[in-house]
Amino acid sequence: MSSSMRVLELVHFGDADTAFATRERPRPTPGPGQLLVRVLATSVNPLDLQTRRGDYRDQLALPAVIGNDVSGVVVETGPGADEFQAGDEVWYLTPIFAGRGTYAEFHVVDQALVARKPARLSHVEAAGLALVGVTVWEALVERAGVRAGERVLVHGGAGGVGSVAIQLASALGAEVVTTARARDHEFVTGLGADTAIDFSAGDYVPRVRALGGVDVVLDTVGGDTLSRSPEILADRGRVVSIVDIPDPQNLLAAWGVNATYHFVFVSPGREKLAALGRLVDLGKLRPVIGAVLPLSEVAQAHALLEGSAGGGRRRPRGKIAIAVGEPPLPR
Ligand SMILES: NC(=O)c1ccc[n+]([C@@H]2O[C@H](COP(=O)([O-])OP(=O)(O)OC[C@H]3O[C@@H](n4cnc5c(N)ncnc54)[C@H](OP(=O)(O)O)[C@@H]3O)[C@@H](O)[C@H]2O)c1
Repeated sequence: MSSSMRVLELVHFGDADTAFATRERPRPTPGPGQLLVRVLATSVNPLDLQTRRGDYRDQLALPAVIGNDVSGVVVETGPGADEFQAGDEVWYLTPIFAGRGTYAEFHVVDQALVARKPARLSHVEAAGLALVGVTVWEALVERAGVRAGERVLVHGGAGGVGSVAIQLASALGAEVVTTARARDHEFVTGLGADTAIDFSAGDYVPRVRALGGVDVVLDTVGGDTLSRSPEILADRGRVVSIVDIPDPQNLLAAWGVNATYHFVFVSPGREKLAALGRLVDLGKLRPVIGAVLPLSEVAQAHALLEGSAGGGRRRPRGKIAIAVGEPPLPR
């Protein structure tokens, strides 16, 4: 086995087309409690775009490998990493800004963060679910504590996070209201949304108020979208943002409403992946993969996600996955 690997390194902050370079690097060695995983798929998240543009330049020195999702196969176990063995198919989310990215053919990870890949998912699908799935689990289950019969508003239902959140809220027995462009309404109702509101065609607030408000808001947009949440919130409602810290001034709009505000910054964990995997096994959750590109085309994947790809290509629904290895895996 060769002791090197191909990686896509972030070499400059800025535009996608000049930011990355393919490099050969030494293959890492798993330390105590760690696994060496052959990465078969990873995915692109908005965090990667923000990192590439330089928003977190104080968090990483260049050149750097970025990316946080992995689905792949264990090839080597470090000392004491006896929960897995070579050949096991695994998926995981890496710690954010931990300095070991996933745009690479191999990746070293602590076994405690790793779960067995759900058999019903391809590697591309599993890689497209890890970060967004864990985020949604933390937001709707751990923070909001969504209960059956509650009404949940998921902003950005056609996106990576929103497309999973609709399915999870629906699986929890909630009535789901979502915001998405009109062209995506059939798609989001197909995922389980009961009501779709076109955010690009006017104010979402009166539409949600007409439904009688919501118990839980999952904010994936921030800004004004988040700050108006109290106007639609039921008493004892919960607002979970994954984008913005709510301004305390919002509490004025919430006068008379007992509300709880949360900010989630996703953290990896096997239990959350295992819970998502059980929903996958039950047929209640299926990641939406809108596009798959090879590792060599990470720059194009970034352009596609940020809506700057040429040829009039629109942003795909759900996730953009990256197939690692040649030939690219089928979806
Ligand atoms: N804190 C955390 O741990 C965490 C974790 C994951 C993600 N995030 C953040 O969450 C955000 C969403 O992530 P994502 O992966 O879902 O991104 P994404 O795949 O780009 O999806 C965003 C979705 O929001 C829609 N949208 C745009 N403007 C909107 C508006 N005003 N109202 C409602 N929907 C709107 C977009 O529609 P169009 O494509 O039609 O414009 C798109 O469908 C990003 O900012 C990301 O950085 C945070």
